[in-house]
Amino acid sequence: MQLYKSAMGKKFASVLLFSLVTVIFCTTDPGDLYVLMQFRDGLENPDLLEWPENGGDPCGPPSWSHVFCDEESRVTQNEAQGVGLKGTLPQNLNKLSMLKNIGLQRNQLSGKLPSFDGLSNLQYAYLDYNIFDSIPTDFFDGLDDLQVLALDHNNFNATSGWSFPKALQNSAQLTNLSCMNCNLIGSLPDFLGSMPSLTNLKLSGNSLSGEIPRTFNGSAVQMLWLNGNQFTLLYNWIVAQ
Ligand SMILES: *[C@@H]1O[C@H](CO)[C@@H](O)[C@H](O)[C@H]1NC(C)=O
Ligand SMILES: *[C@@H]1O[C@H](CO)[C@@H](O)[C@H](O)[C@H]1NC(C)=O
Ligand SMILES: *[C@@H]1O[C@H](CO)[C@@H](O)[C@H](O)[C@H]1NC(C)=O
Repeated sequence: MQLYKSAMGKKFASVLLFSLVTVIFCTTDPGDLYVLMQFRDGLENPDLLEWPENGGDPCGPPSWSHVFCDEESRVTQNEAQGVGLKGTLPQNLNKLSMLKNIGLQRNQLSGKLPSFDGLSNLQYAYLDYNIFDSIPTDFFDGLDDLQVLALDHNNFNATSGWSFPKALQNSAQLTNLSCMNCNLIGSLPDFLGSMPSLTNLKLSGNSLSGEIPRTFNGSAVQMLWLNGNQFTLLYNWIVAQ
């Protein structure tokens, strides 16, 4: 009995020691680490990221290239613009719930753009100049802090075309929205003219049609790029802006 107890004690002590070592040497949030590993695994040329082969601790110190974290070792930024990345993004990317800034523009990322649903800390999202072929409807849900969203030059939903879901109007801090050459169809949504912070709206090179909604008369929008669409009527007040 005595023997059994001390064996248990030893086992307990070594488990404790092991957890302490893990806590000390791997600070990155395990959930965030898992998403980053899936991000790497979805790439055809992950070597371009220059991340260590055997995994480890993206938040460091030192943190891995293209990764930035907060004091709690949660990933806040993923910045890899123009690196030449080929492949797809993991569909659970929105599990990086502390993400503030994502810059993956000017790569060759393809397939389905994952939903950004619930990324309530996200402020800057640059996904332009890739070759994504679809964008999910719930992409825009719960983006409470979003300030800049760039989706230009992607081949989203080419067969059917698509339009901005209403959920986008809840991004009250959005200042820059650009989606040039990204297969938008239908009329220009009314709500875009009423968004309180939206000043730069670039939607050239789509198949938008109909009239410019009246909400744009006196709206916050200062820079409005709509050339290369199929509008029937541009009001004088638009031209004058
Ligand atoms: C784009 O296409 C996908 C797949 O057909 C569909 O599920 C999704 O709702 C479409 N996106 C939008 C914004 O309509
Ligand atoms: C917002 O758009 C303006 C006008 O195109 C541009 O000058 C500015 O750099 C953009 N801001 C960001 C943070 O991308
Ligand atoms: C735009 O708003 C101004 C001021 O409210 C108004 O006088 C004008 O008629 C409006 N223009 C259109 C085309 O609705």
